[in-house]
Amino acid sequence: MDKLEIESYKAEFIKLLKDTGREGVDELIEMLNDGKMRFFTAPASVNHHLNTDGGLLRHSLNTCHAGLKLREMVIAMKPELEDALNKDSVIIATLLHDICKADIYYPTIKKRKGEDGIWREVESYDINYRNFPMGHGEKSAMLALMSGLEIYDDELLAIRWHMAAWDLPMQSSELNRCINAARDEHPLCSLVNLADGIAANLLEWGKEE
Ligand SMILES: [Fe+2]
Ligand SMILES: [Fe+2]
Repeated sequence: MDKLEIESYKAEFIKLLKDTGREGVDELIEMLNDGKMRFFTAPASVNHHLNTDGGLLRHSLNTCHAGLKLREMVIAMKPELEDALNKDSVIIATLLHDICKADIYYPTIKKRKGEDGIWREVESYDINYRNFPMGHGEKSAMLALMSGLEIYDDELLAIRWHMAAWDLPMQSSELNRCINAARDEHPLCSLVNLADGIAANLLEWGKEE
């Protein structure tokens, strides 16, 4: 992804957040821009989808686009969910669900074998959790709170539980009860989980262009 593309995704990300009119958006952007966080240039993964500069930003926007479309579809089919699926809440929770990943990727050079059988040095990333090893969804939720952003319970819970059961320690019955309670109480949790899956598994399906 080139710098111009990253800049235009970044502008869209900031506009979506600012248009919610929430207190603390500027402080949140400042935190994401911080030298340690590098949210706007971080990849979304090392070996999977969007493993390039700006990949995390693009995945966050893909999740937001999917979330907004899903919201419209679900409300058309079940209008009584409109209040529980507030548009600004969908934007906040989808854009921030993976901010935990911003500080775990470090640029490095790796050797990779090309289709011609020749090994070459290529730019890649290493993963290191040392900056703030707090987990995944729980770290994103905590970072959003720590930034000073005005954020509500259902949004925090949707961010915390966006992986659904995929990162639940199976021995913890307490966590099982918490995720079930969050999803029963707040439909936003299921919507953000589905939007993340649509982004990662369908919108980002296939090889990088
Ligand atoms: Fe995630
Ligand atoms: Fe994600």
